[in-house]
Amino acid sequence: MLSTALPAEDLKRELSQCLDQDLAQVNQVLQTKLKSSSEFATDLTNHVSRFRGKQIRPMLVLLFERLSAGKASTKGHALAAAVEMIHMATLVHDDVIDEAETRRHVATVHQRWDTETSVLLGDYLFSKSFHLAASSGDAEACRLIGLATDRTCEGELNQMAARSNRSATELDYFRIIRDKTGQLFGLSCLLGARCANASDECQAAARRFGVRLGLAFQIADDLLDLTGDEAATGKDTGNDLQNGRMTLPVLRALTFATRTERSRILQAIGCATANLALKQMACVKRGIESAASTAEELVRRAIKDLSKFEACREQQLLEAIAMFSVARKF
Ligand code: IPE
Ligand code: IPE
Ligand code: MG
Ligand code: MG
Repeated sequence: MLSTALPAEDLKRELSQCLDQDLAQVNQVLQTKLKSSSEFATDLTNHVSRFRGKQIRPMLVLLFERLSAGKASTKGHALAAAVEMIHMATLVHDDVIDEAETRRHVATVHQRWDTETSVLLGDYLFSKSFHLAASSGDAEACRLIGLATDRTCEGELNQMAARSNRSATELDYFRIIRDKTGQLFGLSCLLGARCANASDECQAAARRFGVRLGLAFQIADDLLDLTGDEAATGKDTGNDLQNGRMTLPVLRALTFATRTERSRILQAIGCATANLALKQMACVKRGIESAASTAEELVRRAIKDLSKFEACREQQLLEAIAMFSVARKF
């Protein structure tokens, strides 16, 4: 395990000391932009705004801007809010695709209302985000947001196409997660560095850091889906196997499995209680450990990209976020 990961509470306190004012601005932008004259739209946006997540992506925008410019700008706040809105839209749609029941400790939108509402709310959040980004007047930022969103959707589409494909490979897995999660993380870091007018070299390093962190973050999420505690994650567990999704710990388990274990794992795919039975198996435990060490290695490599930036509090916080991403329980 990465030995110096800060306890989550300490990280939260340090992030709050550094970013609370900026995050308050970001949340103010979100609140203002999500206002609507439609009562129903307001009910829905209230639901997704009230139950906030970890807000890692906007924090990455803010920290990378502060890292090179010393402070975050109004444009940085707006772009951080735009990125969080894209993330919210993908979650609302993802929960429909995954038939998830709980998100951020409350009922998912399609459970609380219905699927049609989720589809339209997701569209609404995407549209609001592009509108907000366009209001920043930075056409290149809008292009980058569009590009990363395309790739995020392609990742979700490829994941759907690979559903229940028992011959899916690690290469397929990494391609999917690089798109569905890595792109938005990479975008967040790049946008922050761009807002600060960082050098091309630093902008490229920021994006690389983000993509690698996104990969590690998704592997950690896939581990939590298998082994985590719903009371801590605030969302369904066992959802991946139930939906026929071969995540890294399972793919690795297959490489350690005997022929009998292999057919047990393959039979369990698509089954609602699959993870309960599987996680007791020795080869699955090895798969879990192996996937966790890959996530840690990705974080180590991501942290190396931070050396392009001057050592400062923001750089340390980025490092701490990266380590938290793979040690987290939620
Ligand atoms: C969940 O992202 C989706 C993944 C990419 C794994 P987060 O874990 O950042 O979700 P919130 O915003 O904190 O709820
Ligand atoms: C989805 O991955 C990531 C997105 C791009 C929305 P997951 O399906 O694993 O995310 P959770 O576990 O539902 O948050
Ligand atoms: Mg999901
Ligand atoms: Mg998940």
